[in-house]
Amino acid sequence: MRGIILSGGSATRLRPCTKVTSKQLLPIYNRPMIYYPLNTLLKAGIKEILIIVAPERAGDYLNLLGSGKEFGAKFTYEIQDKPTGLPDAFVIGENFIDQEDVCMILGDNIFEDDLSGEIKGFNGGGKVFAKEVPDPERFGVVEFDKDRKAISIEEKPAKPKSNYCVTGLYIYDKRVVEVAKNLKPSPRGETEIVDLHNWYLKKGELEVAVVKGEWIDAGTFDSLLRAQNFAKEKMQGKMII
Ligand code: DAU
Repeated sequence: MRGIILSGGSATRLRPCTKVTSKQLLPIYNRPMIYYPLNTLLKAGIKEILIIVAPERAGDYLNLLGSGKEFGAKFTYEIQDKPTGLPDAFVIGENFIDQEDVCMILGDNIFEDDLSGEIKGFNGGGKVFAKEVPDPERFGVVEFDKDRKAISIEEKPAKPKSNYCVTGLYIYDKRVVEVAKNLKPSPRGETEIVDLHNWYLKKGELEVAVVKGEWIDAGTFDSLLRAQNFAKEKMQGKMII
């Protein structure tokens, strides 16, 4: 399985801290933010990893992470010229994915759980990871039926149909590349990752696993602060890098 860390974007919500660096390189206690999602992939035995970055920050990533040898992995880099949507990662990564299954994680997502069993257990279709949160309207939201089967996923709904949001870790089979290529931008001008989830869901091929431990999307000042404390208290023994 190939891995992708999507680490682009302009992080305007974190200005001025992100004026001269990338959000995903900001420190989370004693490590750069991207080490946490990288740790999640490496723990699952994924060694071929594509890191997608914004053009103006590419040099910083190369300086920090290099070839990947230091981590027992092989890193490839691609530039995303503009943040035109999460599914673009699969279009940019087409050659890298090379007909394999692919696990993508967002560079600002921190997972407490060791998800290696869930990742290694993937067997085709799509698999996403849900987490119960108090503020689902900020995320993609999954609706379950009475048998806990996913029936819909909506991006940032005004009236969420459950408290379960879809976190920033996605596994898809190779079909994702063609599906991503054919997506149309939503009214906010970006292609939407929920359209990929729904493509697999409609075919009855989307698995939704539930994340038990803590999960933080460190994209705002408040969640960044929460992530700092959490990393200090709970993540130190869980890091292999
Ligand atoms: O964190 C989980 C959530 O991530 C999901 O619940 C949502 O379904 C999903 O759309 C996404 O929501 P966000 O509001 O966090 O998306 P955002 O546009 O902030 O992008 C997430 C990260 O990906 C962010 O760190 C920047 C990076 N990014 C984003 C876009 C749109 C890129 O590198 N390139 C892009 O084109």
